[in-house]
Amino acid sequence: MHKETGYVVDVPYPPHFHKEIQPVWLASLVHFLGAAAPDINKPYAYCELGCGTGINLLIAAATNPQGQFVGVDFNEAHLAIAKDAARLIGLKNIRFIHADFAQFSQENNLFFDFVVSHGVWSWIAPNQQKSILQIAARSLKPRGLLYLHYMCHPGATQMIPVQKLLNDLAQHLPGTSEQNIRAGLDFVSQLDAAGVFVDQPNFGARLEALKQKNASYLAHDFLNDHWRPQHSVDLHRLVAQAGVVYLGSASTFENLDGLSIPGAVQPVLSTLTSPALREMVKDLARNQHQRQDLFQRAPARLSAQEHLERVGSFRFQLLPGAPRSGSVVFATPIGNIQGPGEIFSPLLERLAERPATFDELRQLPVFSENLGMLSQSLQMLMWRGYVHPQRQDGLSNRAQVSRLKEWIEKRELKVKVVEDCGTAVHHPLEQA
Ligand SMILES: C[S@@+](CC[C@H](N)C(=O)[O-])C[C@H]1O[C@@H](n2cnc3c(N)ncnc32)[C@H](O)[C@@H]1O
Repeated sequence: MHKETGYVVDVPYPPHFHKEIQPVWLASLVHFLGAAAPDINKPYAYCELGCGTGINLLIAAATNPQGQFVGVDFNEAHLAIAKDAARLIGLKNIRFIHADFAQFSQENNLFFDFVVSHGVWSWIAPNQQKSILQIAARSLKPRGLLYLHYMCHPGATQMIPVQKLLNDLAQHLPGTSEQNIRAGLDFVSQLDAAGVFVDQPNFGARLEALKQKNASYLAHDFLNDHWRPQHSVDLHRLVAQAGVVYLGSASTFENLDGLSIPGAVQPVLSTLTSPALREMVKDLARNQHQRQDLFQRAPARLSAQEHLERVGSFRFQLLPGAPRSGSVVFATPIGNIQGPGEIFSPLLERLAERPATFDELRQLPVFSENLGMLSQSLQMLMWRGYVHPQRQDGLSNRAQVSRLKEWIEKRELKVKVVEDCGTAVHHPLEQA
């Protein structure tokens, strides 16, 4: 455990790819939300706070030649892996800074179009959280985006006493964090068998699912001293003090209230005028356990015409593993949604021929009278990992991308790079 920050450092965090923090995804999503995004067809600067061993930045840097990428982390062993990979791949548009957030916020003099942090906020001490907000306040350019992922109420509430138990237990055990989390979870299973969680009928299944996961992932998830889920309303208040405004979720699905909120709750939601209160009710309705919030400095709303033009020019591509026709089932936190074949089949068939712009897709008879339905269908397919907007800069780092692919293959990572979209997909694609 790192003494000053109470964060696990004795085992490396395993690589996890998140499409939602990649620049093409973020810029497209901001346009879908009706605001002007940073222009990623020109040079831009991007920073990941708590980058771990760098998988997200390495993919971003190789597939987005216009971006300059900076990763910050205080775990030297993590950065050694990331730096070694960047050198092998031959990336010139990436650097890694060894610092904790407090130190980085004091020393940084760079300005960014994107500041992203995934899997960090809820696991670190309040002074380190404050430093993340100082970094956003001082270094985000106008229109710059802040992406924050965090654990939230009410979905994560149940785990508060369990995490406390695991953390405290580990302090009395002699092993590594990996050994201690395994021992801790076995102890919790014993408690479960003894009936301790009898009033929480879903707890046993949750525990079993956790025990299937990688031990170093679990150690980073549960053994830190400061683990704490938050109410979105509290986080939004804090972030607003840093001068950035809440735009929406970085998950396309969560921005589609018509689909992601149970039908009977929607009329209640529409009576609420406070955005923060609306978000709280949505968290309750979805039993939300984590959020991927997107904030922007000095957002500029697009006019209806500009909105249509920006989204109209996005070119969409079918991703590896996507169906090429038929209906689509979306497994959502509020149950399965059937995407009807009449709508999804023509869309998938058209994209299976070749990538197409939104304006081209709106020519399909099924969408001629209903652009909203096209936008919603594409965002659902993006959420599911079947479709992605392409980069529009026309550049390529072919040699680096091919070395990145070799590096991924050698390490047997379960991701496949999709260069034209500036992203990667989980491979094999996770089942619905
Ligand atoms: C759970 S990992 C997430 C890695 C990556 N963002 C991802 O989502 O896959 C959290 C990372 O944040 C780093 N970290 C935690 N507290 C930090 C701090 N105060 N300053 C800098 N890095 C920190 C850890 O070393 C670790 O690499």
